[in-house]
Amino acid sequence: MKMIHIILYFLALLSYTSHATTTSVNDFCVANLLLPNTPSGYPCKPQSLVTENDFVFSKLGPGVLIQPFNAGTTTVSVKNLPGLNGLGISAGRVDIGINGTIPMHTHPDATELLIVSQGQITAGFITPTKLIVKNLNPGDVFVFPQGLLHFQVNSGVGNAVAFVAYSNSYPNIHLLDILLFGNNLSTPTLEKTTLLDAAQIMKLKAQLGGSG
Ligand SMILES: *[C@@H]1O[C@H](CO)[C@@H](O)[C@H](O)[C@H]1NC(C)=O
Ligand SMILES: *[C@@H]1O[C@H](CO)[C@@H](O)[C@H](O)[C@H]1NC(C)=O
Repeated sequence: MKMIHIILYFLALLSYTSHATTTSVNDFCVANLLLPNTPSGYPCKPQSLVTENDFVFSKLGPGVLIQPFNAGTTTVSVKNLPGLNGLGISAGRVDIGINGTIPMHTHPDATELLIVSQGQITAGFITPTKLIVKNLNPGDVFVFPQGLLHFQVNSGVGNAVAFVAYSNSYPNIHLLDILLFGNNLSTPTLEKTTLLDAAQIMKLKAQLGGSG
């Protein structure tokens, strides 16, 4: 019995010391947003300057609806909640007006959870081998695996509201239509690479801020 106690004591001591050296130095690392971001996050703000407000984002209200999609998103990332730095998590709110949509997009570096709180949303994602589409109601939680092309459409008769969580403190958003038609990539090149005709491409560029 005694020997077992001694072994347990040393195991406990070992796990305590290794824990202490790896994590207690950085219980948290509030982003110093005055310094540049790095692949491993922002440098830490000195603890003496950290306050409770570094861990709070207030007023996650409705986002302004952006046309032509008639939808708005508010992302609560390390940029406006600096306590998220290094924690690999963030949040947001999605508002989709009547007939609105969050168009096809990807988050190359984040898995997304969508928690519907109001209205009806048809959500889905697309892979080379599988199409997943589901009609969602308040209380439904849908997951979009990291990196996949996905969308959300308001499929109800009123406004739709959802809250989201991302597995990254500063998720990237690549909107397919904006990438294709929101810059000056030439129309002949777009005709060849998308098989759309020039008139449709010019129409989309006019709506999404593209030229050329
Ligand atoms: C929404 O779309 C439906 C079907 O296209 C249409 O009948 C309706 O007028 C639209 N509603 C609004 C507010 O645009
Ligand atoms: C596209 O715009 C960039 C700068 O905005 C410019 O440098 C480039 O020459 C333009 N390309 C074409 C094909 O117009």
